[in-house]
Amino acid sequence: MPEAPLLELRGLRTQFGEGAGAVRAVNGVDLSLRAGEVLGIVGESGCGKTVLALSILRLIDPPGRIAAGQVLFDGQDVLAMPPRALTALRGRDIAMIFQQPKASLDPVMRIGAQIAEPLRLRGGRGRKAAWREAVELLAAVGLPNPDEKARAYPHEISGGQAQRVMIAIALALRPRLLIADEPTTALDVTVQAQILDLLRERCRALGTALILVTHDIGVIAQMADRVAVMYAGRVVENAPVAEILSRPAHPYTQGLLRSAPVMGAVQARLREIPGGIPDLGRPIPGCAFAPRCTSRAEAGPERCDRQAPPSFLPQPGWQARCWLQAGAPAAEPLPEGWS
Ligand SMILES: Nc1ncnc2c1ncn2[C@@H]1O[C@H](COP(=O)(O)OP(=O)(O)OP(=O)(O)O)[C@@H](O)[C@H]1O
Ligand SMILES: [Mg+2]
Repeated sequence: MPEAPLLELRGLRTQFGEGAGAVRAVNGVDLSLRAGEVLGIVGESGCGKTVLALSILRLIDPPGRIAAGQVLFDGQDVLAMPPRALTALRGRDIAMIFQQPKASLDPVMRIGAQIAEPLRLRGGRGRKAAWREAVELLAAVGLPNPDEKARAYPHEISGGQAQRVMIAIALALRPRLLIADEPTTALDVTVQAQILDLLRERCRALGTALILVTHDIGVIAQMADRVAVMYAGRVVENAPVAEILSRPAHPYTQGLLRSAPVMGAVQARLREIPGGIPDLGRPIPGCAFAPRCTSRAEAGPERCDRQAPPSFLPQPGWQARCWLQAGAPAAEPLPEGWS
C-alpha cells in the first residue's frame, strides 16, 4: 500500500476581496507531500507561491480568506482545526521560514532565548536544558562561537547568520514539515549555497519534509525530489525533479527552463518569459498561460483560449495542465464538450 501523504491540499482556493474583482491568488491547488520529501514550488513573482505557503498554516489575514478546498496534515483537517490544535500545529508539527530573516527575529531578545523559548514552552525542556540545546543547534547550523552567539542580539549578527538562526529556530522542535519561502533570496550567492546545503542536510537528518518556495530553478535542481510549477494561482505541472528538468511537459515549464541559463547552478536566475502574468482579479476563461504560450497554435488555440485545461497525467505521478497533453489520461473529469 502506498504511504499516506503527510500533507495533502485539495482544491485549495485563497482570494483577496470578494465578488467579481476578487484576486484569486490560489485558484484550485491540489498537491501532496510524503514524509521526508522535498517539494519545490517554483514560478514567477505574483503567481501565488507565498499565499499558498501561508494558506497551509491558515496565516491569511482579511481581506484575504481561504474560500474553498482542504488542507490535510497527517489526515487532520487543518482548516477545521480549533485554535488550540492550530497553535500546536504551527511551530511544532509545521515550521515556517520567511524570506526576511532579520525581520522575523525579535530584536530585543537574545538569539539563544529565541530558540530556547519554544523548546521550553512547547518542547517541555527545563530552562538550562533548553539553553544548552539552543547552543547545540546554533553549532549544528554552522554558527561560529555558538556560546557567544547565543547571547547576542539580532543586530549583532550578519544576514547569513540570521538565516542560520531562523533555520535553527524552525528545526528546534523537529517539525515534520518545514515550509521555507525564498529562504536564501536575501543572501549573497556563496552563503546561499551553504544555507541550502545546511537546510537539506538538517531536514534529511531529522526526517523533516520540506516545501521550498523559490523563483530559482537552479535551487530546485539542487534540492527538490518533486516540483510543482505555479502559474497564475494554479499548479500547471507537478512531477519528479528529473522529469521536469529533462522533459518538461508544460510550455510554461519549458519557458522557465529555457530562461535559466546555468542549470544546476545556484546562481541561475529566471530571465523573463516574454509577456506578463495575467491580472488575477479578472476572470480568465481559458488557459491563463495561452497569451504567452509558444505552443498555443499546436495545442489548438480555440480550446486554449476558451477552456482551462484540466490536469492530464503524461505518466503516473506526473501532472500537467495543458491541452497538448490531451492524449494522456485526465486526472479529473474533462469539462463538458471536450474529449
Ligand atoms: N494581502 C494581500 N492583499 C491583496 N492581494 C494580495 C495580498 N497578498 C498577496 N496578494 C496577491 O496575490 C497574488 C499572489 O501573491 P504571492 O505573494 O503569493 O506571489 P509570489 O508567487 O509569492 O510572488 P513573489 O515571487 O514575488 O514572492 C498577487 O497577485 C498578489 O498581489
Ligand atoms: Mg512570495
